[in-house]
Amino acid sequence: MKKKMALSLIVIMLVCAFAACGKKGNQTPTPTPEPTPTSAPTATPTPTEEPTPSPTPTAPVVSLRDVFAEHGMKVGTCLTVNMINSEKQSALIKEQFNSITMENDMKPDYIFNKEKSIAKGDLVVEFNPNMLKMLEWAKNNGMAVRGHTLVWYSQTPAWIFYDNFDEKTGKLVSRDVMIKRLDSYVKQLFDQLKESGYADIIYAYDVVNEAILDDSTLRKDMNNWYATIGDDFIKQAFIAANKYAPDNIALFYNDFNEQFKTKGLLELIDTLKDDQGNSLIDGIGFQAHLYTEDDLTLYFKNMDAIAEKGLQIQLTELDVCLGAYQKTLSASEKNLKTQGKYYYNLINGIFERVDSGKVKMEALTFWGFSDGLSWRSSQSPLLYTMMLKPKFAFYGAAQLKEFAGFDE
Ligand code: GLA
Repeated sequence: MKKKMALSLIVIMLVCAFAACGKKGNQTPTPTPEPTPTSAPTATPTPTEEPTPSPTPTAPVVSLRDVFAEHGMKVGTCLTVNMINSEKQSALIKEQFNSITMENDMKPDYIFNKEKSIAKGDLVVEFNPNMLKMLEWAKNNGMAVRGHTLVWYSQTPAWIFYDNFDEKTGKLVSRDVMIKRLDSYVKQLFDQLKESGYADIIYAYDVVNEAILDDSTLRKDMNNWYATIGDDFIKQAFIAANKYAPDNIALFYNDFNEQFKTKGLLELIDTLKDDQGNSLIDGIGFQAHLYTEDDLTLYFKNMDAIAEKGLQIQLTELDVCLGAYQKTLSASEKNLKTQGKYYYNLINGIFERVDSGKVKMEALTFWGFSDGLSWRSSQSPLLYTMMLKPKFAFYGAAQLKEFAGFDE
């Protein structure tokens, strides 16, 4: 009976593996689902349920922290409260990573108090218990933090853009009012981080997320920041962040499909200057939601072009699905080996560039570690199986070539 259940599980997983995943083209990005504490997917390994092949157990024990430290870099994962509540998962994070990005809890949807905003007549920032718990955990465990994110068209409450903080009025506020709200929001956020002492462990912040389309034009549709402030909403966000963020926090613009919108990114960098011509931006975040068939030569060509602007680049949400966008492949041994090789080549190319000084990159963040916990779970995009067994992908990332799937 048990065996039968395990077999059906494997069949279901293989079927899921054929479903499309990722975000490319004109697809509307799907936000990470809100964490639901009750349905926390905790990894409890039972050998019969292991669905994906992974390398032999003779591979050496290795920590990504050490591998990345050799190149002067931090290595991170996204984090949820469920992960730190799981002994196994939090132990793995501490062993492998030294940086975290909250998967959801620092996003605009989670950091405002509507009732207090109405009462005060100004946006009121109020950190949620999950966010504070993760900051405390990060501090106690020597983890650096990437702040994610201030201004985004998605996962942001609609009411912050409306008259009297009430979207039912149907009346968006004026440009001047929204710029004032933005300024107040960013000030409160950084003031609270400074007062609580957590600002010290934050080394980068995504000031604006996903504001440029694949054709390098500005995202205007369904974007209340654009609807209220207008064409320069990205610049206004960076002006506010520069006013209030402490110097230890590098200010980033973060986006997906980065390899297709290089023109837009280069143009954006040129517009983000103050009146004296000083740059308002410190870095470009490449989300790096990739596929094993994505062309790495093109990826690096465009990375190099952006690096020439003198800004830092960080990979901020790296995961690599099997196959191509809307043509994804199953988690067969062959495809998982291709993924291992892809991770090896990608990270090897980054280390070469960082070592030679061609690219400045202080940190690289994976969007999770376990296939079982990923937003693209059915596509096995990460370094460990759902049972937390290292995959070829892990050894590829760790630059252990002989275990990364090159033995074909
Ligand atoms: C984007 C966002 C992330 C996350 C992913 C989906 O990449 O930047 O915060 O929501 O989508 O998980």
